[in-house]
Amino acid sequence: MAEHWHRRVLEHRSALFAGLTTVCISIGGLAEIIPMFTVGVGHDEVLPEPYTALEVAGRDIYVREGCYTCHSQMVRPFRDETLRYGEWSHAVEYSWDRPFQLGSRRIGPDLHRVGGKYPDAWHYEHMKDPRSTSPGSVMPAYAWLLEWKVDPDDVHASMVALSRVGTPYTDEDLGNVAGSMQTQGQGIVDRMKVAGIEASWDDEIVAMTAYLQRLGTDRPKGPMAKGGAE
Ligand code: HEC
Repeated sequence: MAEHWHRRVLEHRSALFAGLTTVCISIGGLAEIIPMFTVGVGHDEVLPEPYTALEVAGRDIYVREGCYTCHSQMVRPFRDETLRYGEWSHAVEYSWDRPFQLGSRRIGPDLHRVGGKYPDAWHYEHMKDPRSTSPGSVMPAYAWLLEWKVDPDDVHASMVALSRVGTPYTDEDLGNVAGSMQTQGQGIVDRMKVAGIEASWDDEIVAMTAYLQRLGTDRPKGPMAKGGAE
């Protein structure tokens, strides 16, 4: 049987074939990469505030517990997504996310717009026993977050590391980690108290709640803020 032209002309010439394959893949790559360099930070686009000490603590717990294995943090610009979650995610909102928590699986819902969706006390109850707030939930309980404490020295170390890779923490931020955690944490503790919950500012659940309530609150304002739930 005669060889197919494709085999004779292309597949038998490995160097040529490798070269042509590279060209084809590069076209696909360039089509994705070039637009990224042309976007830039818009004139009216303001970078979000860096995460506070308490939010950094909560974020570290989020990473430690592997919440990203079930939750994404990226609302895609499709109608079904914006109707369910709210405005789609903008690149600028990830400015201080190192490492990114985009996630690739959604066993649970996307969390990028969860900030402000529930009261603080809801997160306490949900982490203690997801079935109590969300009947039938397959999310595991993280009850130890209610007992384990955050060590401000660890948070300080995380913030020093983040500032080395570009997060603009000031000396004041780095010098007042415990104080800042306590001030922000007390607000959450007070709100939980109203719901009959006893917590302390250095409980891991308080840090986690601060982080979850921050998520998705950095939508750009001004001309960049197009899109979103129609
Ligand atoms: C095994 C998969 C799984 C893991 C791991 C997981 N979750 Fe979930 N999560 C879910 C599912 C499923 C739901 C939806 C039902 C519910 O509300 O419990 C959910 C819901 C949530 C919600 C409410 C979202 C909304 O919009 O209603 C939050 C907040 C949340 N998870 C936070 C976390 C955090 C923080 C962690 C890590 C400590 C975590 N989850 C780990 C599966 C998971």
